[in-house]
Amino acid sequence: KENGYDAWLHYPRSSHAENRPAWCNVIVVTGGDEVLQTAANELQRGLTSMFGQQPKINDVPVDVPFIALGTFKDHPLVAERFSAEEQADVNAEGYRIRGTEMINPAQSASYDAIKGPYVTVAGQTAPGVLYGVFHLLRWLQGRLDGELPLQATSKSSESSDGPFLDVLSNPVNPIRMINHWDNMDGSVERGYAGASIFYENNALTKNMDRLRDYARLLASVGIQSLSINNVNVHQVETELITDKYLSDVARLAAIFRAYGIQIYLSINYASPMQLGGLTTADPLDPGVAEWWRAKAREVYAAVPDLGGFVVKADSENRPGPFSYGRHHADGANMLADALQPYGGRIIWRCFVYDCKQDWRDRKTDRARAAFDYFKPLDGLFRDNVILQIKNGPMDFQVREPVSPLFGALQATQVLLEFQITQEYTGQQRHLCYLVPQWKEVLDFDTYTQGKGSTIKRIVSGSLGSNGSPASPSSTKYTNYGIAAVTNIGADTNWTGHLLAQSNLYGYGRLAWDPELSADEIADEWVRLTFGGYRNRSHTGNSKHLVPAIKKMLLDSWNIYESYTAPLGVGWMVSPDHHYGPDVDGYEYSMWGTYHFADCRGIGVDRTTTTGTGYVGQYCSPQADIYESTETCPDELLLFFHHVPYTHVLHSGQTVIQHIYDTHFEGAERAANLRDTWVSLRDHLDEAIYAQVLERLEHQTEHAQEWRDRINTYFYRKSGIADQKNRPIY
Ligand code: GCU
Repeated sequence: KENGYDAWLHYPRSSHAENRPAWCNVIVVTGGDEVLQTAANELQRGLTSMFGQQPKINDVPVDVPFIALGTFKDHPLVAERFSAEEQADVNAEGYRIRGTEMINPAQSASYDAIKGPYVTVAGQTAPGVLYGVFHLLRWLQGRLDGELPLQATSKSSESSDGPFLDVLSNPVNPIRMINHWDNMDGSVERGYAGASIFYENNALTKNMDRLRDYARLLASVGIQSLSINNVNVHQVETELITDKYLSDVARLAAIFRAYGIQIYLSINYASPMQLGGLTTADPLDPGVAEWWRAKAREVYAAVPDLGGFVVKADSENRPGPFSYGRHHADGANMLADALQPYGGRIIWRCFVYDCKQDWRDRKTDRARAAFDYFKPLDGLFRDNVILQIKNGPMDFQVREPVSPLFGALQATQVLLEFQITQEYTGQQRHLCYLVPQWKEVLDFDTYTQGKGSTIKRIVSGSLGSNGSPASPSSTKYTNYGIAAVTNIGADTNWTGHLLAQSNLYGYGRLAWDPELSADEIADEWVRLTFGGYRNRSHTGNSKHLVPAIKKMLLDSWNIYESYTAPLGVGWMVSPDHHYGPDVDGYEYSMWGTYHFADCRGIGVDRTTTTGTGYVGQYCSPQADIYESTETCPDELLLFFHHVPYTHVLHSGQTVIQHIYDTHFEGAERAANLRDTWVSLRDHLDEAIYAQVLERLEHQTEHAQEWRDRINTYFYRKSGIADQKNRPIY
């Protein structure tokens, strides 16, 4: 039954199954490594589904064409295929794939009977081989649809003597992580796709198959780290590190381990008090440190390869070192020392700000908080501590500047945190393909070590501390990367809105290779998801379908932005659940999220001359660009400046007319998304068509609600009429 469960791994039966390449008959894999076995099984499963015939898995070469899987070190057939230099180009989790039509027996020392074509998927490690297998499966699907390969193959050639497939791929980010905000009662904080797939009624789920399928989705896009409980660690979850639950954690770890994925636990900073009966959680108290050392021993005895702990401390009412007058390096280092003997890491979140601000207080600026707390601690953290920093200084709004903390830390390892779950971007009822937003963040130049000090270089660890690339062998290099809050839940299609699957797929692909474009990623995802049997016309990836859905995805972020909070000011959502328009919803609250609209103007003055000084947290020239309304980009104007409604933007439009225009257009463009989808009806599977249509209908209506609320609010505040006289209430 078609329901979206297989996502981008559904491997539709090829309409050209008779053209099955001969080498797809046999998979040769040696050794008992669990992840290698996974790789062989995944390949077998994909090929069987595409061609209707199950390839054999063999541990020795056979007399017919085949695919060889293995590591350079353990598989002679794999090793002999690549020169020493070619092998050295592959990093710990990368892969090489090579396919040739003919093997010259003289070239193969280990087996001279190989006659036909043969394909090799090789890595330094088993996970590298697994990622290579998923690449090969993507490539095959692209070919079998009668179109070009999904990805250009380097040095590829169709001639019979050269390889027809020759790929080298290394992940750019050493850590590629997914964070779950799942609670053990089965709820998911900011989850929009049903209940938790991990927990139910304060116990581990019984549905291990679903977890395995999740592991497949993650591994297929190169994810290898996974935190399995909410950063807000409540009463029950605090006990995950006790013998009450550790055997469950071990069972989860085992499932994900088979796919090369390491799990992490979010911990409660006050555990020594809540679990250990201590009177303090002071990081400098020897009793506290000893409690954590003993705890680490116990936890690692149960899960020897646990990645480590994720910590949200002194944030939104969570406990932390501030209660004891200690700073965050004290807190993080004490925990890091406890995990150090086991190779564990502390992922310490920087989402620290005063969430009890008085709205009357015009001096405090929440945007400044992370930099103000963490910049002075630069260089003080242990080698196994990584600071996890949200992409923007506020909280995953549709538009924010990039957090200045990335450029500010020169001697501290960092993880960039994205939010795949659409908390502030339509909650998976609106379409919002986030890859273009993430690309802008990754490409942002901090200038911290001169031009080219981009976020993608900082977070991948390649900028190094003095502008020179960090050495690949140093620990520093491995403790960098990207994390993101997942958007999946127990809904059959994983993400509620089927098209929101593209965000999970896109996140993984981008974390692997930040150079991929939003367009390329959308292209891959649409072809993999809508190829084959989902396409009722059965004409391969219909000429119409792929570009149309791609365009929907690529336009969607801009559309969502245009009918919600204008010009970077953010918020304007209903408090608590964050869905739907409420312009003043957070205006008089304690959360530090204000727009300051009155009858004259709107926006937050964050300049150094007259405002909160936040702009000064950036390096030049970014600081100069943001400081002046002359140079500040339109889309961030109200984040950085308070201006009159009559202020003229670079676009030539006044602020007030911009608000009206974008909201009228945005609502119309949302309706166009629905109309495009309706026009694709004949090309789509019935059930898939219906589930997406329902969301797009809702979005169309809800975008009108946004339009009318925002336009009316600003018309009433400003008294300035719409130049085009459209209905405003
Ligand atoms: C946001 C979100 C919370 C979450 C927090 C965090 O504020 O609304 O639900 O706990 O971010 O990232 O810690």
